[in-house]
This record gives sequence, structure tokens and C-alpha cells, in this order.
Amino acid sequence: MLRRRHLTARLEASSPSCSRCFPSHPKNALASLEHASLGEHERCKFRPVHARAADMLIAQITDTHIKAGGKLAYGKVDTEAALAHCLRQVNDVTPAVDVVLVTGDLVDTGRPEEYRALRALLGELHAPCYVIPGNHDERNALRNAFAADGYLEDGSPYLHYAVDRYPLRLVALDSIVPGKPGGMMCAERLEWLDRTLSAAKDRATLLFMHHPPFLTGITHMDVQNCANAAAFAAVVERHPQVIRLLCGHVHRPVQTLWHGVLASIGPSHSHAVALDLTPGSPPAFALEPPAFALHAWSEATGVVSHTAFVGDYEGPYPFFDRQGRLID
Ligand SMILES: [Fe+2]
Repeated sequence: MLRRRHLTARLEASSPSCSRCFPSHPKNALASLEHASLGEHERCKFRPVHARAADMLIAQITDTHIKAGGKLAYGKVDTEAALAHCLRQVNDVTPAVDVVLVTGDLVDTGRPEEYRALRALLGELHAPCYVIPGNHDERNALRNAFAADGYLEDGSPYLHYAVDRYPLRLVALDSIVPGKPGGMMCAERLEWLDRTLSAAKDRATLLFMHHPPFLTGITHMDVQNCANAAAFAAVVERHPQVIRLLCGHVHRPVQTLWHGVLASIGPSHSHAVALDLTPGSPPAFALEPPAFALHAWSEATGVVSHTAFVGDYEGPYPFFDRQGRLID
């Protein structure tokens, strides 16, 4: 995790003073770090490669499961504290995050007071934030809590929408089936998706939803993933501008190639579903190192995804001294 204060200290400690190679704009800070490791001014010929900064940084947080009033989830997990800790680190990412996506199970039982608590926590974010529902959410309570943000349509029964304000188009899907743990992309939602994607065929697009439409091998979660996945895939295959699919629900980082699109599940910043690929393994959670996903997009690279661990870890330490020699 590159945190701003550490990055600044490291640049001061190890960077030669070269204004041409060390532009001050924070978007170039990572490139400067790379260049600092080279240590020689004449090797600036490498700069065009190293200076390629992301055009857009997306933080993905998932399965926040907020309980109001300090109540613990499953008698064990302080989900409000876990989210607050995570959000502080999202705010510290350098260069600054452009947008935050929260991929469902926003609260634990769908009660208005839980959404009020969530809303207050998310209010600490420096970047704009977009949310979608998961199976623990309640559409009306969610819609009421986030109505002021203006991106949830009043007229639709579903909480799906497109965000066109960024260079990478974001399309949010509502995969929930009220009262059920599993999800579905029904014909009505797929028709909306097809129409929405058809409206901007020339724009690189990222989809985000709660229920993954693919199997993970964790069987107690796989039985409650996204139904009607074949029909969903057929729509996505008609729209090659879709370059990425982000999901939640499984509370741990998973990646797979799904119908030509890299699909992934975000890591948990709170309680992780236990990693047990034994068929029929019992549902269980573990308090693993918390993390969120950081997706960097540029036209040249597409989406490059990182796992950002939440916590106060040692470092970063420089590899090279002031003279550009490897510290050994
Ligand atoms: Fe969840």
C-alpha cells in the first residue's frame, strides 16, 4: 500500500533533483519512484515507459455488512470499524482515487438505521462513491438513503445505472432477488443492459455487480451465485467494449476469464469467507488480512488490478541509496 506520507518521505530520501524527470503532479509520483530507482540522469530515455500513469483509479470495496449501533456481525465482527479503517486508506492512496465502487451487501439486515450508519461512514471519502445492492440489502431503504446522490433512477424497480462522467464507462447491475441469497440477471434486466451498452458501443466499459456469474469452487457460495448466467454472457459477448467485470458476494479475491472478460471478486476488508475448496465445506468466515481492490485504467493498458492491504505495515523502504546503488 502506497500511502501519501510514506511516498513523500521516500522521494525526499532517494530522488536525485531532476525537474525534467520528476514532475510535481501527483499522477506522476509512481513514475518518479520507478525513475528514482534507476539513479542516473542520462537514463531518462526510459521515462516514456515509466511515466505512463493511469487515467483513472477505481477503488472497489465490497460486502461492508454495516450493523448499526456498534452491534457485531455474527457476534464477532465490528463492520463499522473495519469500513472506517479501510476508507482511511482509500483516502490515502496516491495518486488519489477517482471513484469508489461498493459492490453490495452494503448493510447486514437492510434496516434504515444501518443505511444511515453506512452513509455517514462513506461521507468521509474524498472521491465520489457509487453503490449497488447485494442480497443483504433492501432496495427501498437503500434507494432512500442514497437518493440525494442522484444516480439511482426513481422509475425503475432495479438499482442499475450507467456512469458516463469518467473516461472508462461504468455500468452498475442489480443482481438481487429479494428474500433470496442467490442472484439473477432476469430478462428485464438483461434487456436494460443490452440497451445501455448499445447506447455507447465505442466506450470501454466496466460492469460491476454483486453476485458473480461464475463458479469459485467454494460450494456453499456457488449455490447462491448469479442465475441465468448464460443469457447474461450472451449479452456481454455482443458488446466487446466490456473489458472488465467486478463482483462481490464471496468475500475473498477471486479472478477468472469469463466469456473473454476478466471477471473478479473483490477482497474483504472485513470478514473473509474461509478458503476451503472441499465440496460441501461448511459456511465459515475468517479474519484474514483486510484489503480492497485498486483498479487502474488507461487506454493503453486496459484495467490493471491491484490488491491493497489495509493496515499499518512497515515501509516502504528504498531499494537504492542516494547514489543509485542497490542497498545490500
Ligand atoms: Fe456479503
